Amino acid sequence: MSWLTKTLTSSIGKKVLMSLTGLFLCTFLVVHLVGNLQLFYHDGGYAFNTYAVFMTTFPLIKFISYGNYFFILFHAFWGLYLEFQNRKARPVGYVVTKNQSSFSSRNMAILGTILLVYIVVHMGDFWYKYHNEALPYVEYTENLVSGEVTASEMPEGYSQETKIVQTYDEAAKTKTIIVKDLYTVVSVAFKNILLVVFYVLSMVAVSFHLVHGFKSAFQSLGINHPKYNPLFKFLSVWLFAILVPIGFAAMPLYFYFLK
Ligand code: HEM
Repeated sequence: MSWLTKTLTSSIGKKVLMSLTGLFLCTFLVVHLVGNLQLFYHDGGYAFNTYAVFMTTFPLIKFISYGNYFFILFHAFWGLYLEFQNRKARPVGYVVTKNQSSFSSRNMAILGTILLVYIVVHMGDFWYKYHNEALPYVEYTENLVSGEVTASEMPEGYSQETKIVQTYDEAAKTKTIIVKDLYTVVSVAFKNILLVVFYVLSMVAVSFHLVHGFKSAFQSLGINHPKYNPLFKFLSVWLFAILVPIGFAAMPLYFYFLK
């Protein structure tokens, strides 16, 4: 057995793989949140729809996306496997009492499973539709002098393979962009109260999963230093347990109540 295989299959190695994939997914979540904040712009979805084109066509991002799908599956199934192994190793009585460990740390596997279900439903809602279904197109005209954007609906005749068509009118100083209208798909989806409730509850699971997961990843990686631990704790609470879930939950609530 090589040094690498030995390390990765040791009990600490198994946790290191969970930590590294988990931290990658935390980073994805922050980037995803920042990108999706463009849903709040009052521009008829111009920024969000052009951002979606960039995220699905730029080669480096596409490559990272495939890594992301792999890490989601790996993290979920490796986590479940480790949980079953742990349970097998201690079949009788749970010796750690409630006040020695937090709700989050005791329920990481169940919280993670809820998130896996959420991600499958979520990707079916938006990602699958964007890549596989016939979506409407929207045309934006941006005045390059004033920055003003006007949207007109559904120009006819574009095949679903077309991601973006961009033209310039030098004389009128305008740029015209025709893109798939993912913004409208999102806003229509969030008119469904059941989906809104499902999203908001899932963000509670995100919060509990990450408040423990983010800081304990550093412990598993052996990055345990009195100087940095308060920073990890701060980020796990304020960024991952509060800001990220509230930011995501605000999106369905915004479309349901305010659009
Ligand atoms: C609640 C607010 C959210 C909204 C409005 C939203 C919106 C979207 C949209 C429109 C897409 C498809 C476009 C694209 O591929 O970039 C997408 C993809 C995705 N979302 Fe979300 N999302 C939200 C929250 C989340 C959360 C909390 C997670 C993870 C726990 C997540 C995980 C993903 C993944 C893994 C993809 C596929 C990304 C890729 O193709 O690389 N999303 N999301």
